Amino acid sequence: MGQDKFKKLAQALKQSEVLDYDQAWSMPRSYYIDEDIAALERERLFGREWLCFGRSEEVAKTGDYMAFQLCDEPLVAVRGENGMLRVFSNVCRHRGALLAQGSGNRSRLVCPYHQWSYDFEGGLAGAPRMESHKSFDRKSCRLPEFPVEEWHGFLFTNLGRNPEPLTPRLEGLSALIRNYHMEEMKLRYVADEIWHTNWKCLIENFMEGYHLTPLHKTTLHPVNPTRLCSHFPAGDAYFGYNAGYSPDLPRSNKGHPDLTEAEVDNCVMFAIPPGLVSGCGGDYSSFICVQPEAIDRVKARLGLIFYGDGWTDDAVAHAVTLFNDTMAEDKDVLVGLMAGMASAHHSAGPLAPADFEGPVLDFYRYYSRRMQQALSGA
Ligand code: FES
Ligand SMILES: [Fe+2]
Repeated sequence: MGQDKFKKLAQALKQSEVLDYDQAWSMPRSYYIDEDIAALERERLFGREWLCFGRSEEVAKTGDYMAFQLCDEPLVAVRGENGMLRVFSNVCRHRGALLAQGSGNRSRLVCPYHQWSYDFEGGLAGAPRMESHKSFDRKSCRLPEFPVEEWHGFLFTNLGRNPEPLTPRLEGLSALIRNYHMEEMKLRYVADEIWHTNWKCLIENFMEGYHLTPLHKTTLHPVNPTRLCSHFPAGDAYFGYNAGYSPDLPRSNKGHPDLTEAEVDNCVMFAIPPGLVSGCGGDYSSFICVQPEAIDRVKARLGLIFYGDGWTDDAVAHAVTLFNDTMAEDKDVLVGLMAGMASAHHSAGPLAPADFEGPVLDFYRYYSRRMQQALSGA
């Protein structure tokens, strides 16, 4: 029985690789609601892929630190001398207390329990009253370190061993968003939320423009209507679409001077799976860092980043309200979607044309590339 469900999903994913956009179908429900498949994803995707955990400006200065959790790993990002960003295990080498909480600025990480301290290269800097211990080598005592990459202001780390670098695999996407200069945008809104849906539903929802007009009639439709969506080709480590801005929309901030007129009128919706989706616009951009907590619970870190200094608090608040109202509509429909998935009467449905639901197929294909081996061998 267990083998069967893996086989069925593996077959559906294989189909998604060979069928074109105008022949694509959605996935069987096991994709979204099966515990064994979720456990495999934890290992193969979230345990091996690059995961976004925040923005460069959150740890901008020497001495800045930020604690966070990725899946079950407590981690801490620190900015050391020469702007060097590192990510360490946030677990004290003495008896395992958490070193840092939240974020701040300091010269060392100091454990609150017995005050062992660590420098920003991960080495043990102090361990009070431990000199007489016979078999403890202070010099080799270090915090485990994780790889880190900064890309257009987004911070990524990886829980796997010797992962292939991410940035070279994002070249095609970098070309699409370069002129927007997201690395210059500043975080002015961030919220940690739990969404009661499968993490893949959240990503699929963010990455398709088919629902913009019908679901977001009074919120996002006047800004980015479905009719102005167009698909762009996916790469190995990204996929997405362009969401055109309505010509009826008055837009005061035109973004970076490098932007072409066509770019000013376009929002690049992209995903760097499995953990990041973003809507890159000239004036401001949104993003969600995604990690699953259960088949029907996903931890979502939502943020808005703004280009330029001309933003008043009111203008920021207006953007935040639009974002939150839109996300509330998404959240509602995604909770219902989980009930639909659990129904014995659920079956796969046809996907809309590439411009509208093409990225959903791109996501299946990405998933298939990373998971096919584990599903077939299970
Ligand atoms: S657990 Fe950190 S100093 Fe004891
Ligand atoms: Fe939406």
